[in-house]
Amino acid sequence: MRKGLFIAFEGIDGAGKTTQLLRIAAWLEAQGFAVVVTREPGGTRIGDAVRAILLDPRHQEMAPRTEALLYAASRAQHVEELIRPALMRGEIVLCDRFVDASIAYQGAGLGLGEAWVEALNDYALGGLRPDLTLWFDLDWATARARLHARADGRGLDRVERRDRAFFERVADAFERLWQADPQARRRIDASRTPEEIEQEIRAMVWNLIQQHL
Ligand SMILES: Nc1ncnc2c1ncn2[C@@H]1O[C@H](COP(=O)(O)OP(=O)(O)OP(=O)(O)O)[C@@H](O)[C@H]1O
Ligand SMILES: [Mg+2]
Repeated sequence: MRKGLFIAFEGIDGAGKTTQLLRIAAWLEAQGFAVVVTREPGGTRIGDAVRAILLDPRHQEMAPRTEALLYAASRAQHVEELIRPALMRGEIVLCDRFVDASIAYQGAGLGLGEAWVEALNDYALGGLRPDLTLWFDLDWATARARLHARADGRGLDRVERRDRAFFERVADAFERLWQADPQARRRIDASRTPEEIEQEIRAMVWNLIQQHL
């Protein structure tokens, strides 16, 4: 029987997902919870190898279906090897991007069709769903400015180099997903300060802990 809590952080590149995930992880750990921090694509040895293929700027010839299948393959391994076992142990799993990212980026952004990508991921996930998905809603220009200012100085990866129209299709898809299930998915106004955002997420997560753990 599954016991833990599974929370996914979603939104376009530069929306502030990783910043908040690390803050929430530190807060939960300080409260004494066992927390697993992970990310997609990646999270496992096999997943990290797939991630390197996906994000390599040299791989311009990658076909959209190949991309969708690689993300789903990485996710299948992630669920089996890391996420499900952690949930069985009763831990709190915080995941930087998950299935909604595939539906938005490959389904809407690349135009494969959101329903196809969802079906592909249903197979990859074997029934596992996040208890809560936080959608960081931020306009493209602000997100882009944050990426360019990001202190780590790394260049933009293959996906981040796509144009504004691509990210607008992605953002619209995130919004549709949220509208389809506003209970399991929460919209976070990501234009606020990190402190304001963290307070809101803490309250949401605390509620969930009261209900489930
Ligand atoms: N609320 C905020 N206000 C202003 N700047 C922020 C905020 N949150 C994060 N940032 C800064 O914006 C940049 C991008 O944030 P972050 O790396 O957390 O985004 P991300 O959604 O994880 O991006 P990616 O999808 O590329 O991994 C970082 O330099 C971060 O310090
Ligand atoms: Mg990030």
